[in-house]
Amino acid sequence: MAQPVLGEAEEQAVIEVLRSGQLSLGPRIPEFERRFAERLGIAHASAVSSGTAALHLGLRAIGVGEGDEVVTSPFSFVASANAILYQGATPVFADIDARTLNIDPAAAAAAITERTTALLPVHIFGYPADLPALEGHGLPIVEDACEALGAVHADGTPVGGRGHPAAFGFYANKQLTTGEGGMLTLASAEHKARVDSERNQGRAPDMGWLDHDRLGFNYRITDIQAAIGLCQLDRLDGMLADRARAAGWYREALAGIEGLGLPCEDAGGDVRGWFVFVVQVPRGHDRDTVIRGLRELGVQSKPYLPAIHLMSFYRERFGHRPGQFPVCEDIAERSVALPFFPALSEGQVARVAEALARVLDR
Ligand SMILES: Cc1ncc(COP(=O)(O)O)c(C=O)c1O
Repeated sequence: MAQPVLGEAEEQAVIEVLRSGQLSLGPRIPEFERRFAERLGIAHASAVSSGTAALHLGLRAIGVGEGDEVVTSPFSFVASANAILYQGATPVFADIDARTLNIDPAAAAAAITERTTALLPVHIFGYPADLPALEGHGLPIVEDACEALGAVHADGTPVGGRGHPAAFGFYANKQLTTGEGGMLTLASAEHKARVDSERNQGRAPDMGWLDHDRLGFNYRITDIQAAIGLCQLDRLDGMLADRARAAGWYREALAGIEGLGLPCEDAGGDVRGWFVFVVQVPRGHDRDTVIRGLRELGVQSKPYLPAIHLMSFYRERFGHRPGQFPVCEDIAERSVALPFFPALSEGQVARVAEALARVLDR
């Protein structure tokens, strides 16, 4: 049975927080962190205000700073590269693997220089990045797992549970939502103490109100959000199963469209945590015309994701140009995100598939 994203449990939990009077820095935050960490089989988690905040604090925890280079994927939401810039470091892009759409380990290896101090792989569209290959370099890693809650690596480790700081995002379209919010999973108690301080203006845990022993930010999450997050954790398996089932319907319904790129199937033991259903229009079709055609037939779709290195800010700042990362650019130019949410019905999927077939047939 398809489940609503938010239900009575969340409503009740929010009301309880409102009545408790403790809207921030309350007991639901550590409880949310404990249960999230437990689910991923990792020692610690720190709840923060967004996935971007989690990425930023994760990079700080491993010591990325001014002048460093961080090798990352150009096929991601812009936040993964922006977080590197927040630290005064340079995002060095490496092309992606055409099957998984994650950073290509060979391209990543080639992009490493003596200034590289970290790697920032992204588990794009919920498919596990090849961490075992990247770990071989011995460099610190921060994982962007913002789209990958529920994904599992081939060795059975949940994505975010390998011991590197891993950032999750809880924006409204994510597998688990708190409206806005994020989580950083951490293996080390030292990292946890630093992150907890830095999310709260640099306050040390044993200090009173107005003493701060380091630079920090306001990256706090509220108790209201944490209460929603706890309810969402209770229903997460059901919601993930609903998304996986909708993806299965799409796969069947779209199988007959020649040249259409579909999300890669799970392979080698890796398991996707379904987040979006993104297809690539067949070569020779203009993606934006396809999106307009779908809209005329009542289907909302999005050009998702654009390549980060070709965004105007990144072009101007770093002089990036088309042709630098050909696999990423080809995929980005042809990608369309189709309607995708847990309550999607088989009939709705069939209508989207028919509309797409009609538009591509014109
Ligand atoms: C790959 C990726 N990285 C980072 C983020 C940033 O998360 P947030 O919007 O919670 O800051 C998102 C989500 O929007 C994302 O999809």
